[in-house]
Amino acid sequence: MTEPQRPVVVLDFGAQYNHLIARRIREAEVYCEVVPGDTPAQKVLERRPAAIILSGGPASVFEPGAPSMDPALLESGIPVLGICYGMQLMAHLLGGRVEPAGRREYGRTAMRTLKPTPLLEGVPATSVVWMSHGDEVKAVPPGFEVYAATDHTPVAAMGDPRRGLYAVQYHPEVRHTPEGTTMLRDFLFRVAGLRPNWRPADFIAGAVADLRARIGGRRALVALSGGVDSAVAARLAADAIGDHLTAILIDHGLLRAGEVEEIAAAFPDLDLRVVRAEREFLQALAGVEDPEAKRKVIGREFIRAFERAAAALEPRPEVLIQGTVYPDVIESGAGHARTIKSHHNVGGLPPDLPFEVVEPLRWLFKDEVRRVGEALGLPDTIVWRQPFPGPGLAVRIMGPVTAEKLAVVREADRIVREEIRAAGLERAIWQAFAVLLEARAVGVMGDRRTYGRVVAVRAVESEDGMTADWVRLPDAVLERIASRLTGEVEGISRVVYDITSKPPATIEWE
Ligand code: XMP
Repeated sequence: MTEPQRPVVVLDFGAQYNHLIARRIREAEVYCEVVPGDTPAQKVLERRPAAIILSGGPASVFEPGAPSMDPALLESGIPVLGICYGMQLMAHLLGGRVEPAGRREYGRTAMRTLKPTPLLEGVPATSVVWMSHGDEVKAVPPGFEVYAATDHTPVAAMGDPRRGLYAVQYHPEVRHTPEGTTMLRDFLFRVAGLRPNWRPADFIAGAVADLRARIGGRRALVALSGGVDSAVAARLAADAIGDHLTAILIDHGLLRAGEVEEIAAAFPDLDLRVVRAEREFLQALAGVEDPEAKRKVIGREFIRAFERAAAALEPRPEVLIQGTVYPDVIESGAGHARTIKSHHNVGGLPPDLPFEVVEPLRWLFKDEVRRVGEALGLPDTIVWRQPFPGPGLAVRIMGPVTAEKLAVVREADRIVREEIRAAGLERAIWQAFAVLLEARAVGVMGDRRTYGRVVAVRAVESEDGMTADWVRLPDAVLERIASRLTGEVEGISRVVYDITSKPPATIEWE
């Protein structure tokens, strides 16, 4: 996929906030990419960058083997902004003096502007910035001027306007720097002269044209999962190549109520093959209790079912469209991956399938995928669908999965989601769902004693699923959920609400 427009290229030196730099730039409607910090100048220049940003990083420029960059990029005439380590590196490479900070500054720090500069236009003379550094620039390189300082950092911002080189010691990309967005926008729009033009409609036009060119007259295949990424990728591909696209949806019987129908309704024009494989999956899962074992079985069966369905297609598709999104690309490409539990890939396809893989969303963050989905006219139920695990309802049934338990948890899940939606909380909540426990509890209905199933309701808020907090749902919502679950779902006699955060618990119960 050719990338749209001339990008801002972020050279990544390994700081934990780096993905935020890319996010803030995208939020300013400017297209950007993250590449490893030591990418050769020629490779960076091939991307025709409109501006370059040097990220922060945990190293010190003095350490042997400290990450560096091709200095030619600083002489290329392209505007550059160095951030934290990026500033120290710029100073170090251009003849300034970097030293360990006399006193380390960490956290919110008051900064004074010393000299007017387009870099800090619109920023008050005194503002709060977020500092986190062990070294600092003691003397700026020849040609540079100092724009701002804090009590303990004499050079908090510097630049050489003639060469378009600027740098800041603080982190404008984090929310703790309240003027950070203004500062980054000042760099993009005032210093580098960019325009905000990274909008869904531009992306869609570019992506459709690109898919058409890449696929040519060949046939392509896409696996729909019910999630927003694969749906948006499929919509783009369908708009690009029409009836040369076939979609496969493996219905493993572990999806939620109405999902298959929703997807089919959203793609009336698509050659959609729904593979009904519930029986095979349930057979393979029979008696399997251990959560990891369940995942293995489902992963294996999923790939089998997909391969079988793909092999039966005539004529044979040569291209596989995948909904890979940008965080996956950064994680695998730039080498600073945070560790994601391997089980989170369950329900995906292996890399060695006999297709040319095309990934139209590889430049987008999740919220951008949603905006594109909306612009493409996909229904809200798909665009705003909460994350749902690949192994589906199987990991929301404690103990072995049976058709009967599946029916109970699916119905319970439908009610929980309906009530969350009715309360207007669906978008604010990361995930809300029901879990069917192994336990039984005594209840009373009419004047009859019951001994029924226990359902746990879980609702969490989260940024990325790595940590999460339980949602303080209004009592009235909890009450309605409990009374509907016990009243409408046969066999449920008790409802409990999960009030553990992650950590120590995980989001799913299995
Ligand atoms: P946990 O339970 O580990 O979940 O806190 C974090 C996020 O990952 C989802 N999840 C999965 N997604 N396959 C997936 O595709 C899986 O096996 C899986 N297990 C958990 C979970 O729903 C939450 O969003």
